[in-house]
Amino acid sequence: MAFPRSRPRRLRRTPELRAAVRETTLRPAQLVLPLFVAEGLDRPAAIGAMPGVERLPIAGAVELAREAADHGVGGVMLFGIPREKDHEGSGAWAADGIVQQAASAIRRAVPGITVGVDLCLCEYTDHGHCGLLDDRGQVQNDATLELLARTAVAQADAGAEVLYPSDMMDGRIGVLRDALDAAGHDQVVLVAHSAKLASAYYGPFREAAGSTPAFGDRRSYQMDPANGDEAVREALTDVAEGADVVMVKPAGPALDLVRRVKDATGMPVAAYQVSGEYSMIKAAAAAGYVDEPAVVAESLLAIRRAGADLVATYFALDVARAAG
Ligand code: PBG
Ligand code: ZN
Repeated sequence: MAFPRSRPRRLRRTPELRAAVRETTLRPAQLVLPLFVAEGLDRPAAIGAMPGVERLPIAGAVELAREAADHGVGGVMLFGIPREKDHEGSGAWAADGIVQQAASAIRRAVPGITVGVDLCLCEYTDHGHCGLLDDRGQVQNDATLELLARTAVAQADAGAEVLYPSDMMDGRIGVLRDALDAAGHDQVVLVAHSAKLASAYYGPFREAAGSTPAFGDRRSYQMDPANGDEAVREALTDVAEGADVVMVKPAGPALDLVRRVKDATGMPVAAYQVSGEYSMIKAAAAAGYVDEPAVVAESLLAIRRAGADLVATYFALDVARAAG
């Protein structure tokens, strides 16, 4: 009988050999921790659909950011939940808006972690859409760009080092880059949500942020999950307009897009393991169906292997803690 010449199992025999040929890493510095900061809270508040994640007062966000920094997590991504919402989402660009306050507090109190903020209007609008509505309830693209530019400058003024525009308006990266440059913020990093799919996996987040659209859905601005070529086009457009990093969201359900965007742009790529991905793992683990830390590690490794340099995940601190 002929022996197999190729024996892949040779390199799997010991932990040392396996470590020596391991291709993909998952380091805390590659992770970004999303945080929900709410105005008018005096203690953390649970989020029903996201066990283990809380809405935080500013002091709580500073504390968690410090813990994340201590464990080597690369960055935080702040979502602001204002006390009051209005038609335009004016809380987004208020100089003393909740996310501006939180960014500046973390920047002051916590060295050693990159301070990022989500850039969108939906957490601040009373209708829950990501932009300004016309009288027929359609999200207007170009008028929204002006509000986003104002918001970007306010966030950078407050000390945000990275902005994560998540609105999906056309032309926003160029407009934001121009506005930031004109305001003297030429070192602010733009991580464009380039391929943000109109995804059902955002459900738990909308409970957390109170940003469920009051009517309709986001399909006229977020991408059709059926499309791959379009994800590549979106990413290339954002790079041409001045994005520093391009993002794919959600991550696990769109690993092919992570790979395609990486190959097509050669840029640093971020992927966002979103709330629904988080909550599904939490629920399955709570039911005893899967081993949480193992599934978390495998899910994040898959996102890295697909081509993501950075991974935003609600598990960032858990993973960093486990790493030592
Ligand atoms: C909105 C925004 C969403 C998320 C981040 N920014 C949701 C949406 O489009 O409704 C989702 C994040 C998550 O689900 O964890 N601009
Ligand atoms: Zn939005």
